[in-house]
Amino acid sequence: MELTWVEVSKSALRHNVETFRSLASNSLLGAVVKANAYGHGLVPVAQTVLEAGADWLCVNALYEAQALRQASIDCPIYVLGYVSPTDAEAVVEADLRLVVYDPSLVEALSAAASKGRSVPLHIKVETGNNRQGLSLEQTLALARMIRTLPGVHLEGISSHYADIEDTTDHTFAKEQLSRYREIDLALAADGHKLSVRSFSNSAATLLWPATHFELVRVGVSLYGMWPSKETLVSALLEKRNAPKLKPALTWKARIAQVKTVKAGEFVGYGRSFQATHETRLAVIPVGYYDGYDRGLSNLAHVLIDGRIAPLRGRVCMNMVMADVSDIPDAAPNGEVVLLGESNGSAISADQMAEWAHTINYEIPTRINDRIPRILVD
Ligand SMILES: Cc1ncc(COP(=O)(O)O)c(C=O)c1O
Repeated sequence: MELTWVEVSKSALRHNVETFRSLASNSLLGAVVKANAYGHGLVPVAQTVLEAGADWLCVNALYEAQALRQASIDCPIYVLGYVSPTDAEAVVEADLRLVVYDPSLVEALSAAASKGRSVPLHIKVETGNNRQGLSLEQTLALARMIRTLPGVHLEGISSHYADIEDTTDHTFAKEQLSRYREIDLALAADGHKLSVRSFSNSAATLLWPATHFELVRVGVSLYGMWPSKETLVSALLEKRNAPKLKPALTWKARIAQVKTVKAGEFVGYGRSFQATHETRLAVIPVGYYDGYDRGLSNLAHVLIDGRIAPLRGRVCMNMVMADVSDIPDAAPNGEVVLLGESNGSAISADQMAEWAHTINYEIPTRINDRIPRILVD
């Protein structure tokens, strides 16, 4: 029997895909499924979002792309992260398209490309994030090199926003966009015809239809989360319809034990909680090893049939303790919701991120890959 598991709502994923499908109706919809589909489960999510209308899958690394191909997924797969030149043959074999910024990878791909098939490449252009990107001069040089080599071709350019989610002041993001346009124009003037340009992540796809280009790369919001409160406020300020997104993930566990602690006794490591009255505690077999942040100690709560059970003491490696004094029917083997909805109440990734002093992205992506992901409804 599973002690802890993650349920992923197919209908929520479908709803979110359809929302982005209609927001970016003139672009390809690239579903970003890196990091185990933001913790939701790579293959089941990929299959669901493709059925719902996504066109491409975007991953970070070769091993993720290979796992998708092994699951017989044959759509375009775009690798956004680092690929070593020594893996060029594997890239060709898996029929992938890549972000490139390194001439030695381009050469290795050209050498590895099978006859008659050309590897589509996307140069990462520097617009202000200073992660991966090439300057205008370097971009032109790499584009010219690609033009001269067999087995590879330049399909597009891509860039990534540095400061779009953290603020409602988008001056810097708009400067990035003008740098992108400048590089795009320079490539066109140099005779390069790009068929798939991309820049937009969730926030830009939600906020600025003019920046969708031929492909949007949507991650966090496909899973039903707004990239940030600032993005939601910006959408409302710009008087755009802020679409309703549906969170897809619920993390559950079973109560392992219920015990009574007398008034004055302590709970857990460091004795950080002392009971002021007789307290019923549920011991839940999930801890920081599973991705339940230790920063949630004495702060977060779990839900039992919609009722709040506050954490007592520190989050351990494999266990947490929650106060069920006011939930008399809490019993061993009973179900607990750590994240997501429970009988009309909910703990959102945003709420958990606030408790743990991080961003909502980190909450589902850190749920240990070992925990089963189950598609529901
Ligand atoms: C290159 C790139 N594109 C797109 C995305 C998707 O971003 P978001 O999850 O904000 O939609 C990411 C995520 O980090 C990324 O690194």
